[in-house]
Amino acid sequence: CGIIGCVGREDETLDVLVHGLSKLEYRGYDSAGVALSGDRVDVCKKSGKIEDLRGALEPRSIGGAAGIGHTRWSTHGPPTDANAHPHLDCTGDVAVVHNGIIENYQSLRDELATAGHTFKSDTDTEVVPHLVEDALADGADNEGAVREAISRLDGSYAVAVVVSGDDTIYAARNDSPLVLGIDDDSYYLASDVPAFRDFTDRVVYLADGEFATLSADGWRVSDVDGATVDKDVDTVDWDPEETGKSGYDHFMLKEINEQPRAIRQCLRGRVDEMAAEVDIGDLGDLSPTGVQFVACGTSYHAALYGAQLLRDAGIPAHAFLASEYATAVPPIGDALVVGVTQSGETADTLSALREARKRGARTLAVTNTVGSTAARECDHALYIRAGPEIGVAASKTFASQLAALNLFSLGTTRADGRRDSIGALRDLPSNIQAILDDSRAEAVAEEYVDSDAYFFIGRGLQYPVALEGALKMKEITYKHAEGFAAGELKHGPLALVTGETPVFAVVTGDGEMARKTIGNVKEVEARDAPVVAVTDGQSDVERYADEVLRVPETHPQAAAVLANVQLQLVSYYVADELGRSIDKPRNLAKSVTVE
Ligand code: G6P
Repeated sequence: CGIIGCVGREDETLDVLVHGLSKLEYRGYDSAGVALSGDRVDVCKKSGKIEDLRGALEPRSIGGAAGIGHTRWSTHGPPTDANAHPHLDCTGDVAVVHNGIIENYQSLRDELATAGHTFKSDTDTEVVPHLVEDALADGADNEGAVREAISRLDGSYAVAVVVSGDDTIYAARNDSPLVLGIDDDSYYLASDVPAFRDFTDRVVYLADGEFATLSADGWRVSDVDGATVDKDVDTVDWDPEETGKSGYDHFMLKEINEQPRAIRQCLRGRVDEMAAEVDIGDLGDLSPTGVQFVACGTSYHAALYGAQLLRDAGIPAHAFLASEYATAVPPIGDALVVGVTQSGETADTLSALREARKRGARTLAVTNTVGSTAARECDHALYIRAGPEIGVAASKTFASQLAALNLFSLGTTRADGRRDSIGALRDLPSNIQAILDDSRAEAVAEEYVDSDAYFFIGRGLQYPVALEGALKMKEITYKHAEGFAAGELKHGPLALVTGETPVFAVVTGDGEMARKTIGNVKEVEARDAPVVAVTDGQSDVERYADEVLRVPETHPQAAAVLANVQLQLVSYYVADELGRSIDKPRNLAKSVTVE
């Protein structure tokens, strides 16, 4: 989602907001809206693209000195006009836009409904204007009422509020970005600089817990207690064209770097570490006796991983390529059929799910896209909450799928070792960050960029990672790459191995599996192939490796997510060296809606 706000531009407020929203479309959009406060608050909002909002605005005249706008990417409720932001209170005097997830929205909504408030949307956001309304009714001034409302929220938020008769924007952030733009006599606020970069290059980054007020007279940032915070005004020097990438050369690199945050979002409010419990909505009631996964591409690799997690938890589970599923549908019995699809629109996956439903199966969509066809058609949906992904080659959505499948396994089974698994999930964001901060992937990519082909091997949970490593390499470098189950290498693929074919061996832990994979590493080493070990350093695989990509030591389930980050980076840097079209590889589409 993206937020924009503007004060001090008089008649131009609306144009500035719509321009800002169009610059934030890269953050995802399924609906958009604006609110301007003058004598009253005027709101216009629409599902669809910013263009659709423009169309809805044309016949209307809406004006005001302070305005806020929002482009939505659904997390609660499908993309409809009613669910689009801004949201209003009962009186229509308070309008709110919000990014993030309000974890305690259900209890707040129940409390407000009991007190007589009526809600028009399915969103978590809508509780905020009603909380402000209550505080105003209790006699608070506008700023005090917004502060009071914010203090009731748990979760992540960047919130901006306008109130009728007041040309001030009130804003607050917690774990969701918000930045102010400062010009001579106009002020802006947005989730990201591109929204107002065409108007000013002077910015103030808000920190978690800070509160901002912006009016034509100036701006102020304060802490939770209301005390003024002295903020630095920075100057951004990057090209507005590049702003959507936040300074990264490619969306893919940005998205690889967003993985700690994406996983935090996926886990937020769903894990109770103390009780070793996982809450993924009503899915816990499913208690599947068997699971069939259907998926394509990268999502299929996530499905292979998910199937193994469930088998480890004692549930019969199998992953199928969605395009093959319908050709010979396996006996379903009372198995749950799970479609893993970040877009929720992949035709092959939708058709496998429909086939399963026709045979009476219960279905679940594991998806990144609220309101997608898969989410609507399946009996249940588990959202991975990775945020929009622009790069065609999936990166952060794969990591979030793996995290979500851990939640699914923990939430629907009573596997042993839950506490350790949950602890490892909690540590994932910081462990991924450690890799991002200190990876040797770029040097490895430089060394092997001219190779004939690349092979990837792994066992157990690292087998899907090997497949995904190879797929990523193919997709963005256009070079030949294959992933194999480490034990299978000697049954044929070994004939391809030469001194010109680096082999990436994913070896974590120091048990039987690691020992066997090291045996396979020795086989390729004997054929002069360069070996790149992706390892946590527990085994002695490094002795046989030419290059080492380290990952922090953790639980085997989490180790797969970490190893994958190193392989993403290697593919990225090889593709970069080769000057490939990384975000839009040739012949590929982000979501393939034909079978
Ligand atoms: C396309 C994309 C792949 C993606 C696959 C499945 O082929 O190019 O990157 O993995 O679709 O997409 P889904 O949206 O179902 O996860």
